[in-house]
Amino acid sequence: MNIDTTSLIPATLIPGDGIGPEITAATVKALEALGAPFEWDVQQAGMTALEQSGDPLPEATLASIRRTKLALKGPLTTPSGGGFRSVNVRLREAFKLYANVRPALTIVPGRYEDIDIVLVRENIEGLYVAHEHYIPIGDDPHAVAISTGMNTREGCRRIARFAFEYAVKHGRRKITVVHKANILKALTGLFLDTARDVAREYEGRVAMDDRIVDACAMQLVLNPWQFDMLLCTNLFGDILSDELAGLVGGLGLAPGSNIGEEAAIFEAVHGSAPDIAGKGVANPVSQLLAAGLMLEHVGRDDLAARLKTAIAQTLNEDAVRTRDLGGDASTERFADALIERLS
Ligand code: NAI
Ligand code: MG
Repeated sequence: MNIDTTSLIPATLIPGDGIGPEITAATVKALEALGAPFEWDVQQAGMTALEQSGDPLPEATLASIRRTKLALKGPLTTPSGGGFRSVNVRLREAFKLYANVRPALTIVPGRYEDIDIVLVRENIEGLYVAHEHYIPIGDDPHAVAISTGMNTREGCRRIARFAFEYAVKHGRRKITVVHKANILKALTGLFLDTARDVAREYEGRVAMDDRIVDACAMQLVLNPWQFDMLLCTNLFGDILSDELAGLVGGLGLAPGSNIGEEAAIFEAVHGSAPDIAGKGVANPVSQLLAAGLMLEHVGRDDLAARLKTAIAQTLNEDAVRTRDLGGDASTERFADALIERLS
């Protein structure tokens, strides 16, 4: 994408719930020091929005993203069991954000070194369409729980093509398709078959193999270096991307992008971390790396590279780390140290 570097790019900023406002404030401060070209339109979503306006996904927030087609989003709390439907899922559906890209790259050498895997997750189909209902028996209204998953050939082809195009563009050589086609023969069999069809178009350029999800989860622990890119259905991608985060030091170091035809939303892989919210100790690096993906998306690879280098220097050379990485720095202290590296 060619961007006029002198003009500002309108972008929606959703601080989110829990640790969201803390890590987002740190990220915005660092982006200012970096000279990132975003002009923020701050909007609310999640519990924060519910408390303020009675709606977890206000129309003003949707309208803002419709206008900017670009957002940086903090994590949003979703009640488990009852309560409102996930705002994350609603946003992905509203803007057809069909591709969730979650890179896992070692920055802090730890249990594993030199991990460099990109997970591409189908983001709007599969079991997350969550067509669910209960069947009552006798006086138990919840005697049976039913959930229906849905994959379409069109949706499978779209995400497979996205993954292969990503591989070509980023010089990746192999895509491993993750499925459970031995059991969920229709739902994930269609995903696998369609990926195989698409792979034929890329023969000689990008290789493809496949793994059953449970075996893949184990292989990721035993020998993660055998993987280059993973292409996953919605649920498996959600689970394995947290596993990938674990391989590179935890959820504090894992960014993601949600890409669609109508918008792109960037966020950390992790959630709102209610256990540490408001304490000023959250690791802002996932959100910072998400902002880096956003810079790449708008064609500012130069700024993204500077940001990533400064993050690595702050963590490794300055040894400024938050609690989750064994340090004692606060969110703010990390941001200040990073800004020193950026200026
Ligand atoms: P979580 O990812 O919020 O937290 C899991 C563990 O990782 C916690 O111990 C937390 O303290 C730690 N952690 C997460 N991010 C961290 C950070 N930046 N720095 C240091 N430690 C960090 O997952 P959990 O607790 O299962 O979910 C909490 C809420 O977040 C739920 O309501 C869930 O629905 C929501 N959620 C939202 C997501 C989003 O908005 N994209 C993604 C995942 C969960
Ligand atoms: Mg998740």
